[in-house]
Amino acid sequence: MCGIVGYIGAKNATELLLNGLESLEYRGYDSAGIAVFDGEKLRVAKEKGRLSVLREVLSKSPAKGNLGIGHTRWATHGVPSVKNSHPHTNESGTIAVVHNGIIENHEALKAFLKDKGYVFVSETDTEVIPHLIDYYYDGDLLSAVQKAAKKLDGSYALGVVCSYEPDKIIAVRKDSPLIVGLGKDGNFIASDIPAILSETKDVYLLNDNEFVVLKKDGVSICDTNSAPIKKEVYKVQFSAQASQKEGYEHFMLKEIHEQPQAIRNTLRGRLDKNLNLNLDNIEFSDKIEKLYIVACGTAYHAGLVGKKAIETLAKIPCEVCLASEFRYGEPLINEHTAVLVVSQSGETADTLAVLRMAKKECNKVYAITNVVGSSIAREADYVFYTYAGPEIAVASTKAYTTQLVAFYLFAIHLAELKKTTVAPVLDELKNQLLNLDGAINEAIALDEKIKALSKKIAKEHDVYFLGRGLDYFVAMEASLKLKEISYIHSDAYASGELKHGPIALIEDGTVVISICTNPDISNKLNSNVKEVTARGAHTVGFTSCLSDTSAYNEIIELPKINPILAPLPAIIPLQLLAYHVCTAKGFDVDKPRNLAKSVTVE
Ligand code: F6R
Repeated sequence: MCGIVGYIGAKNATELLLNGLESLEYRGYDSAGIAVFDGEKLRVAKEKGRLSVLREVLSKSPAKGNLGIGHTRWATHGVPSVKNSHPHTNESGTIAVVHNGIIENHEALKAFLKDKGYVFVSETDTEVIPHLIDYYYDGDLLSAVQKAAKKLDGSYALGVVCSYEPDKIIAVRKDSPLIVGLGKDGNFIASDIPAILSETKDVYLLNDNEFVVLKKDGVSICDTNSAPIKKEVYKVQFSAQASQKEGYEHFMLKEIHEQPQAIRNTLRGRLDKNLNLNLDNIEFSDKIEKLYIVACGTAYHAGLVGKKAIETLAKIPCEVCLASEFRYGEPLINEHTAVLVVSQSGETADTLAVLRMAKKECNKVYAITNVVGSSIAREADYVFYTYAGPEIAVASTKAYTTQLVAFYLFAIHLAELKKTTVAPVLDELKNQLLNLDGAINEAIALDEKIKALSKKIAKEHDVYFLGRGLDYFVAMEASLKLKEISYIHSDAYASGELKHGPIALIEDGTVVISICTNPDISNKLNSNVKEVTARGAHTVGFTSCLSDTSAYNEIIELPKINPILAPLPAIIPLQLLAYHVCTAKGFDVDKPRNLAKSVTVE
């Protein structure tokens, strides 16, 4: 969701804030703003729309200073507008605040503050914060923020500046990501590492309720009662370049092409050429009778494939749940169950909430995540990092395929622990995982064919995806990719379900895309495709195993691979399809409407 950044030091704050916000724009992009101390007062500039609009305004009327905070917004409370965008200030404009998260008790706080004479100008939940800080302010900004934070229910990462104390930024987090960057010519706060990477690789990863006093030549951290907290410096492993487009037109395209390397990164150090699997001593108690796999969106789709791999190889019953449903669904969790959460960002609010809930009741909580040091990574009992590198495009691609690889390794590891699958079968899978490059590159090489197909798909209003077994899960992910960036209505169905309702949607020319990678059930899928062909559908088959292709208008040949691993190469041309349809329609690939990466509100 929203991105926040703050800087204090010797350099021009405006430039650093705008550059930082540019790297955070994937978190929200409906408005942006900064507050910079110009030597006398806080100069606030806010604009509706993309960051480029704000940049343009500031280029004509620069805000000069060495202290400032900035924000890029994904609207929750109040429409995207100048008055609702951050920073929000107190009435006199002496205190400015940027916020990521949701203040759940904002109505009660607003009533309290109105009663004291405070006047509100926006529709946001955030605006209560500068007023509350103002209410508590008696010459000590840290103390006022600590007092205000005690009154806030909900989630927040805050950056606060005050023109009476222009030597500092106060920051705090609770259930929303925030890091501190330690630079040579000043220090930073930011929602995410890429925002500060061009300036420093040394960061502090903050925990909930840690208060930061950021000064130009030092950073101190304390708790709610001002007791000091000592932090280790974390050295970021990836370069600023990894967060750049590096010659690709869009991040999504770059990330699709990075998949061979990203998968190699996931495998590195875990599976060697002698087929030894080393999963950082991930333990799995004999007491665990059931595994809940919990995630949102694309990560949930990865979980569906993961369930199949774990059940097939390790014979452990799994249930895959959406985090937003699980947390309020009174799940049957106890010491005989474990929870495995999956999250690229490691910050998704619902997934994090499930992790915390499971930690109280379950035997163990496992996590598959990409972002090192994220909340989910830090709080899980066992973490499996995918090491996919920064994923900037809102539509997830390399995070998904590397999550699948993580699941395959996890499933094989459990199968070895439990001795549920014979070694030759596991060795064959390990071998294929080690040699995935060929299949993945073959899938990427389908690009030209997919681009040609995308011209037709771009004209459609509805597109349906079909599959059986694992192919159904691939169909679900393909459908999500297409709808989220091309805005074409799309659904995925288990092909056997068609006759139970959805087939009523098929008419002359309706596009139906089917995925078929399992020869054991290809005939079944084929019969279903024939049923839609008979009703006038335009059918496109993505297949590695169909011998009878008579029912299809078009066929895209997928690389051949063990059916259990087939989702890995199968999804890639479907990611490319979504990409090319989106560009054909002229939409913003990396920043689709209404969406944001890293969903840190529920
Ligand atoms: C879709 C997409 C989202 C995320 C979902 C979970 O392309 O990216 O559906 O998969 O918001 O995010 P993480 O994995 O960060 O928990």
